[in-house]
Amino acid sequence: MTFSRIAGTGGYLPPRVVSNDWFAARLDTSDAWIRSRTGIVTRHFADESQTSSDLALEASRRALESAGVAASEVDLIVLATSTPDYVFPSAACLLQAKLGIKGCPAFDVQAVCSGFIYALAAADGFIKSGTARRALVVGAEVFSRLLDWKDRGTCVLFGDGAGAVLLAADSKPGIHASVLHADGSYAGLLSVPGNVSNGRIVGSPYLQMNGQGVFKFAVKALEEVARETVAAADMAIADVDWLVPHQANVRILDAAARRLGLPAEKLAITVDHHGNTSAASVPLALDEFVRAGKIRAGHHVLMQGVGGGFTWGATLATM
Ligand code: ACO
Repeated sequence: MTFSRIAGTGGYLPPRVVSNDWFAARLDTSDAWIRSRTGIVTRHFADESQTSSDLALEASRRALESAGVAASEVDLIVLATSTPDYVFPSAACLLQAKLGIKGCPAFDVQAVCSGFIYALAAADGFIKSGTARRALVVGAEVFSRLLDWKDRGTCVLFGDGAGAVLLAADSKPGIHASVLHADGSYAGLLSVPGNVSNGRIVGSPYLQMNGQGVFKFAVKALEEVARETVAAADMAIADVDWLVPHQANVRILDAAARRLGLPAEKLAITVDHHGNTSAASVPLALDEFVRAGKIRAGHHVLMQGVGGGFTWGATLATM
């Protein structure tokens, strides 16, 4: 039987770091409010010339390098983003061209903050079925482009970045189980309810959110899908060495870990210096903790996403 295994990780954050005080100088907010309600201290914003596929390229190069795999050996690209460069072609196709390769399938996944988990599950399915052997799975976002800078309830929460893994075929797992869910009846909780039509933007091009509704949904969904995924892998919560959840908000992450009975030392947190980077947040956090030597070979890592749609899901993998 063929399984898939994370053979390398990579991350990229654009150089511009923005502090909470930057917002406090423009809006009725403060560093103390943002820190205490979200845990966020700084985030990175891309400059105007950088697109999601540019950030994805840097993260992908690093993931390939850490896996010791050449771009020419990649036979599948799955890129999760809600902020693609264009309406079409996909950011995955643009990334493929920037990597200097051609021919392999490449497509985007749009599941907002669960996007990377969806992309990972899709790539795992390709590898298990024998359709691919070396998949580049990427989350890349420039959420700063969707923010209404006058809305203090949302613009302080997000950041830009990209994370990637090289998923390789292996005789042992690797990925043990993935569980994905969606419920479109919650679409109104978190959305950018606009589109391009007849040369105009119809609806709103800005992110809108019911913060308390998202909070409640996210904590419950993260707990439930963690339990489902661990059970699907025939393991117990106590077997999990690291929880790498979507980095929405420290309070959401603490609450979810507490409900699972997982100690704080097993929780990977990067939202304090990344902000919420949507589909990029899980692979960025994974990469940071791998490079810091905290997540190591043999560790059981539970990765989780929850976000607009609503969508949610988790993947349990042995590194
Ligand atoms: N600075 C100062 N005051 C603020 C700010 C701000 N940046 N933002 C909102 N407020 C004010 C509100 O206007 C409100 O003022 P009022 O009482 O005068 O009306 C007050 O703070 C309380 O507002 P609430 O919305 O009740 O604040 P809450 O404690 O719920 O915190 C927050 C808001 C941080 C957004 C919280 O609801 C939350 O974390 N929700 C989850 C949202 C999230 O993580 N979204 C990410 C995208 S979804 C995802 O990734 C899963």
